[in-house]
Amino acid sequence: MNNLSTPPLLVADTLQRPLRDLRISVTDRCNLRCTYCMPREVFGKDFVFLPRAELLSFEEIERVAGVFVQLGVQKIRLSGGEPLMRHGVEHLIEALSKLCSTEGQPVEIALTTNGLLLSRKAQALKNAGLSRLTVSLDGLSEAVFQRMSDSTASVTTVLGGIEAAQRVGFSPIKVNMVVKRGENEHEIIPLVRRFRNTGIVLRFIEYMDVGTTNGWRMNDVVTAQEILALINNHYPIRQLDPNYRGEVAKRWMFADGGGEIGVIASVTQAFCHDCSRIRLSTDGKLYTCLFASHGVDLRDSLRRSESDAMLARFIIDTWQHRTDRYSQMRHEATTFQGRKIEMSYIGG
Ligand code: GTP
Ligand code: 5AD
Ligand code: SF4
Ligand code: SF4
Repeated sequence: MNNLSTPPLLVADTLQRPLRDLRISVTDRCNLRCTYCMPREVFGKDFVFLPRAELLSFEEIERVAGVFVQLGVQKIRLSGGEPLMRHGVEHLIEALSKLCSTEGQPVEIALTTNGLLLSRKAQALKNAGLSRLTVSLDGLSEAVFQRMSDSTASVTTVLGGIEAAQRVGFSPIKVNMVVKRGENEHEIIPLVRRFRNTGIVLRFIEYMDVGTTNGWRMNDVVTAQEILALINNHYPIRQLDPNYRGEVAKRWMFADGGGEIGVIASVTQAFCHDCSRIRLSTDGKLYTCLFASHGVDLRDSLRRSESDAMLARFIIDTWQHRTDRYSQMRHEATTFQGRKIEMSYIGG
């Protein structure tokens, strides 16, 4: 597209938050069934995933991404579901990475994976130009991992994937742990011990009320404050400044130089005031909040061959009308009661 102005337009929402971060769900399928994300009672063998024709094609994703980059997006994160289950995802990454390198401003391409297919994909992802990798891992004990992921998959496979990613040169790799009370808080210190002094940044995520299927209760949330106090008792830590405005994780370092950790406290310390993220679902709907109940359809415009300028207008309108701040309002009396979309469909 060449009919938009350069440098990128600055698009701001009603709370003056810029559009900086695009998260794309490339599949709604996953090879795990984490109880906090895709509980098997709902996502069982009768669950109907999106048929192929409903998915945005790689060409369609690439085109939308190009428009977003023109509008000032600086980071594109691929997620799912499990993004490595989308056949040939490395070809999409290669195309995105070419597109971003011709736009004259740095655009990072990141991917969040559960790591099960990483050993065999790491080299291809690196060759394709992926900038950064985040791996989800909720415990080191096989029993805890299998219970939380409701699967027979092995921690060893995930660790093997992380090691393969290190070998091909991804750095820094981030590891995300969702902490759920009574399930895996006793895995915090073993994970800290495992990843200290490795260059890997371990991040702890407060269990969130995303979607409507995981039976979330506030009592199940282990707060960032509790997590940090526990770690500090074993390994003293000091807070670091954010890397950039609107960073989701609060950063900490081990006082003895053992590296960095992070906490993502979206329940107890909401970060909506700086939220610059938009999400594109597997079937091409745009969501301006992780907790949204409605998306606006972009696929239809794409398939009607509307011009890039028209797509851009549509995106700008959507963002300019945005008022979302779900996490900040969670505790207010007006808290949302409707049906929220699921994280596996919209992308983490
Ligand atoms: P980097 O700084 O680029 O590593 O990205 P990030 O911090 O956004 O990391 P990542 O994409 O891995 O997000 C980590 C987790 O934070 C997600 O899996 C979600 O659980 C949570 N999260 C990310 N974005 C949002 C958001 O907009 N709202 C809420 N409530 N949670 C979010
Ligand atoms: N609360 C917090 N994080 C979640 N994720 C998925 N569901 C939830 C939830 N309910 C995170 C996973 C993974 C990413 C894709 O989203 O840990 O890292
Ligand atoms: Fe799959 Fe990630 Fe959801 Fe677990 S959290 S079910 S690995 S998409
Ligand atoms: Fe952004 Fe919505 Fe998350 Fe708040 S709750 S940080 S507005 S995605």
